[in-house]
Amino acid sequence: MRKWLIAAAAAAVIMAPGAVLAQQPIIIKFSHVVSPDAPKGKAALKFKELAEKYTDGKVKVEVYPNSSLYKDKEELEALQLGSVQLLAPSISKFGPLGIKEYDVFDLPYLMVDDAHAHAMYESPIMVDLGKKLDAKSVHPLAYWDNGAHVYTCNKPLVLPDDFRGLKMRIQGSKVLDAVARELGAIPQIMAFSELYQALQTGVVDGEDNVPSNILTQKFYEVQKHLTVSYHGRLTYALITNKKFWDGLPADVRPGVDRAVKESTDFFNETAAKDNADALDKIKASAKIDVHYQIDAEKQAWIKKLMPVHQEMQSRFGKGFIESIYKASGFVPPQS
Ligand code: LMR
Repeated sequence: MRKWLIAAAAAAVIMAPGAVLAQQPIIIKFSHVVSPDAPKGKAALKFKELAEKYTDGKVKVEVYPNSSLYKDKEELEALQLGSVQLLAPSISKFGPLGIKEYDVFDLPYLMVDDAHAHAMYESPIMVDLGKKLDAKSVHPLAYWDNGAHVYTCNKPLVLPDDFRGLKMRIQGSKVLDAVARELGAIPQIMAFSELYQALQTGVVDGEDNVPSNILTQKFYEVQKHLTVSYHGRLTYALITNKKFWDGLPADVRPGVDRAVKESTDFFNETAAKDNADALDKIKASAKIDVHYQIDAEKQAWIKKLMPVHQEMQSRFGKGFIESIYKASGFVPPQS
């Protein structure tokens, strides 16, 4: 009897570490490049709150803002390797993965309004594109649309000719490269984390971004002019490591899926107002001159940039571009 008791006690001691291990939460590292106060930063924190709540603490989400864990290009590599589990990069940064199709969304003036953009990102087109990411071990969970870009620069950008000879920071997309060249500027690909210093020191003259990034990264303090041009858009893909996501236990997966859905709704419901408020705050700061385009200026920009659409037909194929036009509501102007 005594022998049996000792054996049982020993077994319990051996079992104990396993039992404790089974209760360890699954860690989801969520890395991103913007401020916790920008729409993406807030939605990442919302995802953390909801995922931890809906899984009863079976997952723990660690959010790393402001490129504190990885910068633009590194974060995609880290996700593929499984060193990080969630990212929400701009879809203009998927070129290095060897997927060119996402660049199509950078065609100037493509999305006629927010409603078309939201419908596009929930359409079967995105499901098809997602398969290309899956093949690279990257699984898209949702799209977060952050609205339209404005330009900032150290000189006024009123008409297309004003870009001539300027060094403009761009994200990695080949379409953004073509846009800058069409304007006569010199495009320079640069990680978001390096942008503030590059603008401050004059390594580049300007960039385009959404007002919430310009406010929260303080770009408006190191740029003299902002043009409300709304010429392109910034959209994020919430992406995960495919193997990691597929391997989530059955009692965890519904909770995180629900958190993805609700943090996506949160993003898409709040980003537009955040960007409008940010533009107001930037204007109120009086640290930068804010120029709202008049219609004649806008028409001159559209005319100047339409050749990029022509040029990109050979890159994407006419059929693909036409399907994107249909979904985005874009009608090419008659020349
Ligand atoms: C940029 O690089 O300008 C943006 O994509 C940053 C971001 O993620 O909002």
